[in-house]
Amino acid sequence: MSHVEMSNPPKNAGTSDHTPREPAEGFGEDFSTLSVHAGEARQKPGDSITDPIFCASTYTFTDTQAVINYIEQNQAREEYGRYGNPGERVVERKLAALEGAEDAILYSSGMAAFVGLLMTKLSACDEVIFFDECYHRSREFCTKHLSRFGVVTRQVRACDYEAMEAAINPHTKLLVSESPTNPHMSCVDLERFAQIGKEYGVETLIDATLATPYNLRPISAGIDYVLHSATKYLGGHNDLLAGAIMGKKDKLEPVRKLRGIMGAVNGPQNVYLLSRGLKTFELRMQRHNENGQRVAEFLENHPRIERVLYPGLASHPYHEIAQETMRGFGGLITFFVKDADWRETANIVDAVKIPRIAPSLGGVESLIEQPLVMSYYQCTPEERREYGIPDNMIRLSCGIENSEDLIADLEQALRS
Ligand SMILES: Cc1ncc(COP(=O)(O)O)c(C=O)c1O
Repeated sequence: MSHVEMSNPPKNAGTSDHTPREPAEGFGEDFSTLSVHAGEARQKPGDSITDPIFCASTYTFTDTQAVINYIEQNQAREEYGRYGNPGERVVERKLAALEGAEDAILYSSGMAAFVGLLMTKLSACDEVIFFDECYHRSREFCTKHLSRFGVVTRQVRACDYEAMEAAINPHTKLLVSESPTNPHMSCVDLERFAQIGKEYGVETLIDATLATPYNLRPISAGIDYVLHSATKYLGGHNDLLAGAIMGKKDKLEPVRKLRGIMGAVNGPQNVYLLSRGLKTFELRMQRHNENGQRVAEFLENHPRIERVLYPGLASHPYHEIAQETMRGFGGLITFFVKDADWRETANIVDAVKIPRIAPSLGGVESLIEQPLVMSYYQCTPEERREYGIPDNMIRLSCGIENSEDLIADLEQALRS
């Protein structure tokens, strides 16, 4: 028996069956147990405890009849690297188990996942409606690029469900939101969002990158597709890019087929890093949640801070819905410095010693940035006003460092 057969590989990307071969049953519901074991073969090639890194761009057949059998019998095996690789399948099964989803498709980045889903689901004259607080590249893809293919994008204010309903028409095919939103941390009433979709026969997508499957369960609220930038908490170590879409197997099938054409797959080494990062997913999330809450409370009580946006604070406009629907509130905090112009705000960002100045979030290292400079520098003041990005806004992604150290560091920076 060959090593590939021993690893019990899942079916090929071009085929229809992506049923997890190592179902989560038997591992229960516990996150850490699923993170460590779900999706993996019990006995792996070489009797290794870890999954091997298959450095293969293509996969061989013993003879012509084997190729014909593979095609005619829809056999479960690899064919060509653009359709996926064995390591990727393991991570897909693990992510599906963590999300409580039937299936997961892994991509080379969160944006690749977003583009892959929307390109599959939307055609000319279709319309997509999304809540306007979102990662700026998601908005850019819809407004600048999907529009070139005749897809109409309608933006409505985040969490304005009446406005969303009013914008729905017979061309509407997809309702999109993040939850919590980046960087405003607004939390969507997922059941209401899903219900609107069902009522009008429109599919729903939630980008739950900031929440992760540990803190939020959009699928059980009735959402059709859940997206994650796995670059963030899922990978967790600021050392890889990846993305994932989760949902029902039959709905994801055409999405997977287009991914095989786009080629937005992960290289085998990248997949290994993600798989390794996922082993400690629950432990990291517990620490991110703890640090986020403590640091947010510290900032809220600091005299130099005007306002803090963190769903775990009672002052947050969506605290109630967050409390009802989230297990924890993550490590991302957005705050505003009192009476500060952009330079005074930048001085605080420059004065911290532990968080590093960088885009991204969700890794073990704390990161800090001023959205005005990091992501919206090229925008006009009017555009920044429209997107809700004032000069005195700071976004802090709490890593897994000691919360007392982070607080002491922020304290000294706020004295600067
Ligand atoms: C909420 C959200 N979704 C999607 C993305 C895109 O993910 P990636 O950078 O992995 O393409 C990001 C990136 O910052 C994000 O914050």
